[in-house]
Amino acid sequence: VEKTNDNKMEKIISLAKRRGFVYPSSEIYGGLAGSFDYGPLGAELMFNIKHLWWRTFVSGREDMYGLASSLMMPEAVWQASGHLDGFTDPMVECNKCKRRFRADHIESTKECPECKGELGEEKTFNLMFPVELGSTEGETSRAYLRGENAQGMFVNFKNIIDSFHPKLPFGIAQIGKSFRNEISPRDFLFRVREFDLAEFEYFVRESDWEKTFEYWKEEMWKWVDAVGINRESVHELEVPENDRAHYSKRTVDFEFDYPFGRKELYGLAYRTDHDLKAHMEHSKVSLEYLDDSTGERFIPHVVEPTFGMGRTLLAVLVSAYTEEEVKEGEERIVLKFKKAIAPVKVAISPLLKNKEELAKKAREVFDMVRKEIPQIMYDDNGNIGKRYRRQDEIGTPYCVVIDFDTLEDDTVTVRDRDTMKQDRVKIDELLGYLDF
Ligand code: GAP
Repeated sequence: VEKTNDNKMEKIISLAKRRGFVYPSSEIYGGLAGSFDYGPLGAELMFNIKHLWWRTFVSGREDMYGLASSLMMPEAVWQASGHLDGFTDPMVECNKCKRRFRADHIESTKECPECKGELGEEKTFNLMFPVELGSTEGETSRAYLRGENAQGMFVNFKNIIDSFHPKLPFGIAQIGKSFRNEISPRDFLFRVREFDLAEFEYFVRESDWEKTFEYWKEEMWKWVDAVGINRESVHELEVPENDRAHYSKRTVDFEFDYPFGRKELYGLAYRTDHDLKAHMEHSKVSLEYLDDSTGERFIPHVVEPTFGMGRTLLAVLVSAYTEEEVKEGEERIVLKFKKAIAPVKVAISPLLKNKEELAKKAREVFDMVRKEIPQIMYDDNGNIGKRYRRQDEIGTPYCVVIDFDTLEDDTVTVRDRDTMKQDRVKIDELLGYLDF
């Protein structure tokens, strides 16, 4: 029986901290607003999500080129892309307490929501993080931490063309950090100042942009299912012109029903030839594509699917988090992750910790499984019931128990996370049984 979840966000944040998924950043010094650290299980979960994304959109396809470009890029890049002018949020500052707020996130732009002081005039606030490079005073040059990964793809467009001679349509993809000086970071991993972003620029002929847009929209829905985000909680939103980014002629957002409301999860944008054209003008380097069958030269247009990885991890946690009544008066919390992304795939336990024969056999099974499935855990703490509850809470799909029968007949008990059913399986058939 599934139970309704009150205070779901608080419960998830607390579980994430307690079980080592997500910690507040630099917590022993009071933390840093808008920053979080992934603990051992969060790091594995994030790794699995990124790995699945890379396999789905990059290494599993022939039309995609992977990239890992620098996080710092010179001012000229951001000048050309329009981010130094257009990448802003509306901001108001309180005249009394000096706190700053996103003007479009507060109820009234007259009175400070914190101290009731008077708010100043609305201004635009640039989200880019400047960094000063150079060790000699007076000789610094300005760079920026990238506000989106996309510019790394545009400035490497010519390199990819020169090295690989790809034919249209093709994409350039990368996963990595982006940085934004958010005025008011909030809602756990939802709005932070540095975040993992996975996106790709898909280059097409202008006449193909609409069908390409529809194609990637469908592929994004397939990804939602594959990663284990509840599809009923995802909604497409046609973003009106005045809310679109400066580079976009059409944007569809994928919104998700977070416990704190329906908000953006992913975006799909038609960026036209805005970026390549701007970089070609500013850098004076030709970024045209040559169709060698017709001799035609032109600047390709771009359709860009973008996936916040922190928001993915959050939506996965929200989708997976379940409270169930197992039997009368007995409850469990279980994270029903897709097996492919579960941070621990299998837990292996001896029935009793102190029986040497059981522990020895359990270690043997552990070593055998780990060779094939590295994300496993040896768990001999507490009694079996408690171990099952602990593994449920971190979303481990299978628990394997070595007991006295194992010593007689070389079989083990395998317990399934979701059905809680137990099967008796021969050790030499175990790897085939554990299905990933
Ligand atoms: N290159 C396109 C681009 O950057 P965006 O909508 O500005 O588009 C892309 O951002 C994605 O990054 C969003 O869909 C969201 O998933 C994620 N994202 C944006 N700002 C974020 C923030 N402050 N914290 C966490 N994730 C964020």
